Amino acid sequence: MSELNKIALKIISNGKGILAADESNGTMTKRLEAVNVTSTPENRLLFRETLFSSVCMKKYIGGVILYDETINQRTNIGQSIPDLISSSGALPGIKVDTGAKTLANSSDEKITEGLDGLRERLKRYYELGARFTKWRGVFVITKKYPSIIAIHTNAHALARYSSLVQECGMVPIVEPEVLMDGDHSANLCLNKTSEVIKKCFDELILHKVDLSGIILKPNMILSGTHCKNKISNEEVSRKTLECLQNVVPSEVPGIAFLSGGQSEIEATENLNLINKNNSTNFIMTYSYGRALQQSALKQWSKNTKDKEKTQNIFNHRAKMCTLAAKGKWSIELENK
Ligand code: G3H
Repeated sequence: MSELNKIALKIISNGKGILAADESNGTMTKRLEAVNVTSTPENRLLFRETLFSSVCMKKYIGGVILYDETINQRTNIGQSIPDLISSSGALPGIKVDTGAKTLANSSDEKITEGLDGLRERLKRYYELGARFTKWRGVFVITKKYPSIIAIHTNAHALARYSSLVQECGMVPIVEPEVLMDGDHSANLCLNKTSEVIKKCFDELILHKVDLSGIILKPNMILSGTHCKNKISNEEVSRKTLECLQNVVPSEVPGIAFLSGGQSEIEATENLNLINKNNSTNFIMTYSYGRALQQSALKQWSKNTKDKEKTQNIFNHRAKMCTLAAKGKWSIELENK
């Protein structure tokens, strides 16, 4: 077993999942302002520190994805954030792309940037304690899109990123996200997501990436947000499994889904059904941002000093997601 494979398995085994707390300052500002909290480095740290010091971290969270600001911050007793995360047994990770920018010659689409100087940044993040990384490519579905240019360029960037990350001894999370925005059908989402993921693996293989040392972070197969004929959760799980079974090489140890705008319950229920119906050898778990933090953030905004109430909510959410990663979640346990 390679070192990278061991790291990947440590993050996602036994129902553990990933807390995606890697919102850029811009995104985090939107999240905080939506609950009437001013976005300062201190407030961003306070919320995240509250989550990272929750008891659920030990049992349910295998890794935390950080943003550059957070990986460089310290708690009020002077402990570094990566050390705080490691003390719970979880591994610190870091988002290393620098964001999705307008794609030349296809200006309604995006190309994710951040390759320049990446090797040097990775070395620094490793020294700070990071053992895995994240890069997100983003795709829209319309009649014309995703275009071949968007599929090719983003897959190429994900592969170049992944090979540099592995060279530095870290596990790359490969995140090709096909957005749920739009009125497209679930079948179109299935076709386009399959095409996107397939191209990513073609490029990863071309770039000699060790597939046993990555984690794939895809979207689930969903009907578009404005689609009139929504499919059931059961169908979501079946189509998601169909897609992954067909396009993910068997060496990949695991898949950690993004929540992508689904509600907390929806993301949990869908993951639960995916695991109930999973006949593949892939571990199927979560790497949620909003679907792990939304309710905790709402509570925290009511009284940012009351750690306990916020942590209780986060503990419950993480427990429910881990139950779903084992196919053992139910609405009764949710509401208990
Ligand atoms: O890149 C996206 C995040 O890591 C996951 O966030 O679960 O809110 O989609 P989300």
